[in-house]
Amino acid sequence: MGWASWHCARCAAGSCAGVTRAASPSPLPDALRDSARALTAGTSLTANVQANDELPPLSADLEGDLLRVAQESITNAVKHARATTLTVSLHTSPQTVELRVKDDGVGFGVDGRRTTDAGRQGGFGLIGMRERVERHGGELKIESEPGKGTEIVCYIGLYRE
Ligand SMILES: Nc1ncnc2c1ncn2[C@@H]1O[C@H](COP(=O)(O)OP(=O)(O)O)[C@@H](O)[C@H]1O
Ligand SMILES: [Mg+2]
Repeated sequence: MGWASWHCARCAAGSCAGVTRAASPSPLPDALRDSARALTAGTSLTANVQANDELPPLSADLEGDLLRVAQESITNAVKHARATTLTVSLHTSPQTVELRVKDDGVGFGVDGRRTTDAGRQGGFGLIGMRERVERHGGELKIESEPGKGTEIVCYIGLYRE
């Protein structure tokens, strides 16, 4: 599902309450920076975090789930990727949140069933991440190919009806 499809008809007409809600300081950007620093300390990974300190109002529940998704993605990069650079970015608009965690490591083959098939190899990290995002009506994409690194992309639409 593309970015544009999150925009609701009332937002487009200017009558959605979300349009006028101002961005304000959030604990999430600092929590992302602290996590990235702590989880990559003593590893060969250099972490960059790109996030505005002011975000549209997000529930504590959503902020907690976004943080957990980022932490699990960073942990996976440390554990599996053999990467040198990790970039965590949080971009928001009044109607959307987009969290990306990208590494330049070994990547892996993502088959369509990987995150829903409990019988597959590996742990439950990717499944748990997807569940956390879907709980908020969002979508998690795993972009990875052997040798080409991995990017976890998570989109959440805000103020949906
Ligand atoms: N950033 C990454 N780079 C390379 N491989 C990864 C990455 N993230 C996940 N993987 C692969 O996907 C598998 C499943 O990940 P996950 O569900 O978090 O389980 P776990 O981390 O417990 O193995 C991992 O075992 C690994 O093979
Ligand atoms: Mg994992």
